[in-house]
Formats: sequence, C-alpha cells, structure tokens
Amino acid sequence: MLDWENIFATRATRMRASEIRELLKLLDQPDIISFAGGIPDPALFPDEAFKQAYGDIFSGPRANAALQYSISEGYKPLREWLVTEMVKIGIPCSVDNVFITSGSQQALDYIGKLFLSPKDTALVTWPTYLGALQAFNAYEPTYDQLSLNGNRTPDGYREAAAKAGGAVKFAYLSADFANPTGETVDRPGREKLLALADELDIAIIEDAAYQNLRYDGEPVPPIMALDIARSGGIENTRTIYSGSFSKTLAPGLRVGFVVAAMPVIRKLVLMKQAADLHSSTINQIAIAHVAERIFPEQVAKIRKAYSARRDAMLAALARYMPAGTSWTKPEGGMFVWVRLPEGMDGGELLARSIQTEKVAFVPGRAFYADGSSNNTLRLSFSCASETMIEEGIQRLGRLIGTAVAEAA
Ligand SMILES: Cc1ncc(COP(=O)(O)O)c(C=O)c1O
Repeated sequence: MLDWENIFATRATRMRASEIRELLKLLDQPDIISFAGGIPDPALFPDEAFKQAYGDIFSGPRANAALQYSISEGYKPLREWLVTEMVKIGIPCSVDNVFITSGSQQALDYIGKLFLSPKDTALVTWPTYLGALQAFNAYEPTYDQLSLNGNRTPDGYREAAAKAGGAVKFAYLSADFANPTGETVDRPGREKLLALADELDIAIIEDAAYQNLRYDGEPVPPIMALDIARSGGIENTRTIYSGSFSKTLAPGLRVGFVVAAMPVIRKLVLMKQAADLHSSTINQIAIAHVAERIFPEQVAKIRKAYSARRDAMLAALARYMPAGTSWTKPEGGMFVWVRLPEGMDGGELLARSIQTEKVAFVPGRAFYADGSSNNTLRLSFSCASETMIEEGIQRLGRLIGTAVAEAA
C-alpha cells in the first residue's frame, strides 16, 4: 500500500486539523451551550435582501453574465462601492487598488504564498487568528512574536530571523477586536507598529475582518489610514488591508477583499488566475446589490444584537468567575478572552466542561504559534442568547471555581 506520508511535500507536515473545527463536530448535541464557534448568528443574516438580489439578477438583462466567467480582479461595481467605503475610513484609493477574494481567508493564503519562502519569518501576535497560522503554515515559515511594548528591537528581530534561515517579511495582526482576544490596538500602538515596519522594511498585514463591529468607544484609524496619512498616498504604503463581508452580510457567499498598492495587487491577480480564476461572479454581484442597498442598516442591526450579548457576557463573568481569573473587555467583535490561574489547563477544563456542565469554549493554546499558554480560553458571544450566556457563564464559573479549589 502506498505510504502517502512519504510522497507528500514537506509543507504538508505542518497541515494539521484545526482544534476548533474538530471540536465543532462534537457540538451538535442540543443540550450544549456553546461559546466555541465564533461565527455570525444566522438569525441576523439579511436573507430577504439576498433573495431580492438573486431574483433581480436572474430577471434582469445580465443574468447570463452573472453565470459566466469574469475578471480576476473582481466585479467592478463591487470594487467601486468598496472605494467609497474605504474613503470614509481614511483610505483614499482607486478601483485598481481593490481586489476581490474568496473570503478574506484566501487573502491570507495568497499573502503567505507571495511573501514567505521556507524559513522566512512572519511576525504574529501571541495569540493570533488560528486561520492565519494555518494559511501561512503551508509556506513553511518561522514565527516570531509581534510585540509592541518595546521589549524587542528591530535588530533582535533581524537576528532571530537570520538564525532561523530567512528574513522577516511581514507583521500580521487583527488590530480591531481581534480573534481570539477581542482586543484593539490603540493609535500609539499602531504608530509604533508602522515605525517598527519601517525599521525592518517589511509589510504590515492588517486583518480588518471585525472592523465594522464596534459597539462602543472611539474608532481608531485603520493602520492603512495612518500609513497613507504619513506617506502621502496608497502607492507609498507598506500596509495590506484585508477585509471581509463574512461578519457583516454573510460568510456563505465567500466574498472578501484586499486593498493595497498596485505592485501587490498585480501579483495577487496573477495568483488568483492560477488558483481559481476569480471569485464567484454571481455572489460578488449579489454582495454588491445588497451592500449598495442596506449595508449601514445591516451593520447597525448586528451591532445592536452583538453588543447586548457582549454586555450580558461581561456582566455574567463579573458575577460568576472566581478570584484569580481575568478577562478582556472588548469594545466590539465576537470574543472575550479569559485568563485562568497559572497551572490550569484549558484543554482539560474543556473535557470536564463538556461532560459535567455542558458548556463549550475554545482552549487558548491553539492560537499561539509556539503552542505556549495553557491557561487561557476563548469565549464567543455571537451566537448565544442573553439567557443562554447567563446560564452558560454561571456553569463555567462553577466549574472553574471547583477546579481552582482542587488545585489549591
Ligand atoms: C481574524 C479573521 N480573519 C479572517 C477570517 C476569515 O474570514 P472569511 O474568509 O470568511 O472572510 C476570520 C474568520 O473567522 C477571522 O476571524
């Protein structure tokens, strides 16, 4: 029998099943309260608007075009709509700076492919979005911790990368309501990052998947906007902005986008020609149709629902978590990040939690490029009702309280 492992490329050794996806398979039992997912609430999808969009497409004069191959850059009216949105957040650009992807996950894969030779270094936050690690892993990089608190120097990064056998190529981060921590990088932090990127002469990958989901506090300008403000225009920037319609409209259509300087876009277009030719024509048209008609109302609707759930989760955590635990207070997004007392293990806690309390979450370790940190958990509030959140956090608090008492 063929030993497949023998003939897989070296990059395949780093492709492993995501802990989260494996876990989601176990969560179909109806009595589990799940804070594990981190996906949008389907009850909030603008399904009527999509029904109208597909109906209009098929009854209109361009029905056949919607079913046909199209250009790799993406559907032009959608890119034009994005240009107007980008201007509103301080990112003046032209339609040629906008490239449509099949979800922003595809952008991460292309970015890995475009920048990372084996052993090159990608700087990522500790913890970071697990899907970014999965996308970059295929290109056999080394990871180093992106730190903005001044404890690392540019020379330190350069030396570590050279020792690993490559060079630092980019810093990847989700600066607004990050997955998994819910935290936002403040303006001085963003400016420090730009200064570090200048010193290292690397790109910054700004993953803006959650940027529209702010519930309170003042918006912080996108890193790309700060970069444009100081450099004079998008063609002088080192930031690559990756956006998505998954969290605002619907993830099932798989439509995301990249905004960047032309040399980057030109390469991405070539990569797309090789990978999948273009993103779904009809889905791009439907997204444009819906976005042009209801985007602000839809964003207001989901902000209202998720912010009430965020409030319910923070209130329940304050009521039920035992002493020695701490958690983030996100101003948006879908996640709260819980830190347990040192020595506790999130994985073991999950096994116990599913058995005894029927509450699910994601242990934090999967989000660390070096697998460190056992005593953290990611809780998502996007898909649970306020009543379920109250009940689930009460149960989780009870379980953690018992585990803390046992360890004492
Ligand atoms: C931070 C972050 N980036 C990117 C993605 C990918 O989203 P999509 O491919 O649906 O745009 C996700 C999905 O959860 C995410 O959390």
